[in-house]
Amino acid sequence: MPKRMHKITIAIDGYSSTGKSTVAKRLAKELNYIYVDTGAMYRAVTLYALDNQFIHKKGFDKKSLVAHLSQIKLEFKFNKEHGFAEMYLNDINVEKDIRSLRVSSFVSPVATVSEIRKYLVKLQREMGKNKGVVMDGRDIGSVVFPDAELKIFLTANPQIRAERRLLELKEKGFEGDFESIVKNVVERDRIDSTRADSPLIKVADAVEIDVSNIDKEEEFQQVLNLAKKKLDI
Ligand code: DC
Repeated sequence: MPKRMHKITIAIDGYSSTGKSTVAKRLAKELNYIYVDTGAMYRAVTLYALDNQFIHKKGFDKKSLVAHLSQIKLEFKFNKEHGFAEMYLNDINVEKDIRSLRVSSFVSPVATVSEIRKYLVKLQREMGKNKGVVMDGRDIGSVVFPDAELKIFLTANPQIRAERRLLELKEKGFEGDFESIVKNVVERDRIDSTRADSPLIKVADAVEIDVSNIDKEEEFQQVLNLAKKKLDI
């Protein structure tokens, strides 16, 4: 069978607001692959925790959230009009709500909880079991699919990432001030990189791309070229 007929697994990891989702989504479309935004899954669990008061002023009740995991149904449903899949939490479209700063502020602590990670990693492996998948997150190349044929690690300096995030929030109709966004980006980097379970790391076989000084188009072209090389097309 020619190499191009093989479907591969593509893992795109990296820091928040490096354009991972945009690139991954476009790449999946181009290759006719499934796209899985694993950050959306952690965000949906966080939204569930907020809505059910497991996260409140006094803190984060991990135990209760973990006890309710089996009641959290997560699904990606394709939106024909927008051309990409959207996140559904217990049959409700939460694609917009999970991008709010409220969810962004609590998602990293939620993502430190091993039971939650285990639950989501299992779903992610199921979604990618037939290959032909582009999955983006923090631990895809290291934990979810350590055998992925192509692993990409995206970085950029925090200021530039905060600018990207602010623009993204505005496009989605949310308010946000630059300083709080920089703070959120830096704090999430810290929590994501230092947590005990599956910290954000660049694995040895990942290709690192620093996107600080390149635009979205160039970022996509670089990733696409790497994929084409792997697929021999
Ligand atoms: O990619 P994102 O910004 O939407 O991810 C939101 C948070 O979820 C991020 O701060 C860390 C966590 N996350 C994770 O721990 N593992 C993943 N595979 C994806 C996201």
